[in-house]
Amino acid sequence: MKRTKIKGILKSDATDYKVNVKGWVRSFRNNQFIALNDGSCMGNIQVVIELGADEALLKRITTGASISVDGTVIASLGKGQKVEVKADSVTILGDCDTEQYPLQLKNKPSLEYLREIAHLRFRTNTFGAIFRVRHSLAYAVHKFYNDRGFVYLHTPIVTASDAEGAGEMFRVSTLPFDNPPRNEDGTIDFKEDFFGRCTNLTVSGQLEAELGAMAFSEVYTFGPTFRAENSNTARHLAEFWMIEPEVAFNDIHDNMDLAEDFIRYLIAYVMEHNKEDLEFLAQRLADEEKQKPMNERSELGLVEKLEFVVNNKFERITYTEAIDILLNSAHYKKKKFQYDVSWGIDLQSEHERYLVEKHFKKPVIVTGYPKDIKAFYMRQNDDGKTVAAMDILAPGIGEIVGGSQRDERLDKLTQRMNEMHIPTDEMYWYLDTRRFGTVPHAGFGLGFERMVLFVTGMGNIRDVIPFPRTPKNAEF
Ligand code: 4AD
Ligand code: MG
Repeated sequence: MKRTKIKGILKSDATDYKVNVKGWVRSFRNNQFIALNDGSCMGNIQVVIELGADEALLKRITTGASISVDGTVIASLGKGQKVEVKADSVTILGDCDTEQYPLQLKNKPSLEYLREIAHLRFRTNTFGAIFRVRHSLAYAVHKFYNDRGFVYLHTPIVTASDAEGAGEMFRVSTLPFDNPPRNEDGTIDFKEDFFGRCTNLTVSGQLEAELGAMAFSEVYTFGPTFRAENSNTARHLAEFWMIEPEVAFNDIHDNMDLAEDFIRYLIAYVMEHNKEDLEFLAQRLADEEKQKPMNERSELGLVEKLEFVVNNKFERITYTEAIDILLNSAHYKKKKFQYDVSWGIDLQSEHERYLVEKHFKKPVIVTGYPKDIKAFYMRQNDDGKTVAAMDILAPGIGEIVGGSQRDERLDKLTQRMNEMHIPTDEMYWYLDTRRFGTVPHAGFGLGFERMVLFVTGMGNIRDVIPFPRTPKNAEF
């Protein structure tokens, strides 16, 4: 018999039909009631076994074991479920040694512990919900751009250029570590390397996306990006996924509108399609909040927070205004910021969080950053000091989007690259777009995991990517 997914059975009121279900045993009570889960949804189906079944078989139905059940869907007499499966036969697919099974040994395992057993954590309700939400968000990303006529461009993972100019890249090489070929001056001879030059894992697909936008008008990338920054925080990964739309003819205002629409769309999509998962995650968060002191608890529950973001426009301010707000805050006057505030600083996450969580209490888009703290490609404003950059700051997260209008003027761009020591000869292909039919254009990058964090209400980015890569950690 063909397998029926548990989600389909639970969703319907239909009864008195034969099914086959397969999955993993979550619990087994009274030698009679199995809670079976196949990951298609949060809920388990209750499988009822006739009393007096074979002892040897019953012993093997343990938490974590995988089984196949043929039976009949009937109306449930018990509380908590509308329907259940009355088993005709149960086959063990794979035994589970409960003496060793980590999820059986720990009652209420902590998130930290579950990170150590990331190969098994998908089988918990929390991680089931998170990764179903993550999937929905990924699907919604493609749907959003596809519905608007964008072309999905696969930009390279291995690259010779440092798009952000921050120099935090992982080298890709087949040269022997212990004895690489050297030039006469002692430097490594990358002409001998696999690609005949020094290559790295990409930090961003933006530069290549810009090339695509100069032909398709609207493109986006959605792929893994890599940063070798030694940031051991709850918001940073060394390998994370980023969505980068790039749009010809858009200015910074169009760019902000697109980013805002995009974020709202993603949230609304999950609220419509992952109700059960979100309700579970909201409850989890509410329980966690109860452990905190009163003054640190968030005012809104997860679902209310998401509804609020969908229904309210983001605040838009300039960097200069942001600095003024910080300087005038009681928080600043009482010296509660760890990092000092003055015009020209790169906003620290404590500053960003003050703006969104304490001052505006909603997402904020900050524009017009000082050019010295931003990448070379951002369009220089007429004041000679700032660039048409935009960061979106989200409550509980800080920066979730970074983007800008790009400098489409060859002379200005070349001048800035020279100032920042970015090799214009190697980047001829990027500059060619400014030589051959240049147009105003803009784009941004949404950190996918930060978006998943925001939607799920989780606190640590390691819990929203299946197998996190962080400094000193690449298990699994
Ligand atoms: O602000 P970033 O560095 O912008 C860029 O890479 C541009 N090329 C984007 C563009 O304009 N096309 O990164 C964009 C976003 C950040 O706002 C943040 O959400 C996320 O990527 N991000 C990280 N997420 C997790 N771990 C890290 N180490 C991250 N670094 C950036
Ligand atoms: Mg940024």
